Amino acid sequence: MLRTVVVAGALLLGVSAASAQQSVVDKTQKLMKDNGRNIMQLGAMAKGEKPYDQATVDAALKQFDETAKDLPKQFPESVKGLKATDSKYSASPKIWEERPKFDAEIATFAKAVNDAKANVKDLDTLKASFPAIGKSCGSCHEGFRLKDG
Ligand code: HEC
Repeated sequence: MLRTVVVAGALLLGVSAASAQQSVVDKTQKLMKDNGRNIMQLGAMAKGEKPYDQATVDAALKQFDETAKDLPKQFPESVKGLKATDSKYSASPKIWEERPKFDAEIATFAKAVNDAKANVKDLDTLKASFPAIGKSCGSCHEGFRLKDG
């Protein structure tokens, strides 16, 4: 009886740990999807497809900043190999094999975002700051994001 309870308890713990890990991975995906939406907004403005709007810029940079602060916590060993629900992308195992490089990508992203926060106040300054942000997204994806199927 006691044994059954202990085993059931251990199983339950296992299940809740697994779902906690899944929620970390799903949160990463949400951060990235928000990144995707916001970079499109900034890109459209930088290309002149949409009028410059400071509130949209500020909201996008705030979200990037929060993401940059969350990213170091989003990849504990326990989520290695897990995938977000309904995603065409996943985290490369290189994140855990080459952690210092991955951390450097996060730092480059954070710096580009901070520079933009300090400097972007009109279309010209957006055009000047946008490429560094876009490049930092692309560079991390190239090294550490896998496209599945
Ligand atoms: C430090 C690394 C890193 C940086 C910086 C980064 N990403 Fe990602 N991104 C990832 C990883 C790893 C994945 C795959 C895991 C996932 O999808 O959750 C990903 C996935 C994505 C996805 C696919 C989400 C999905 O599953 O549908 C989008 C879109 C995306 N990133 C956009 C961006 C944009 C835009 C930026 C810059 C503003 C950015 N990312 C910056 C690492 C990064």
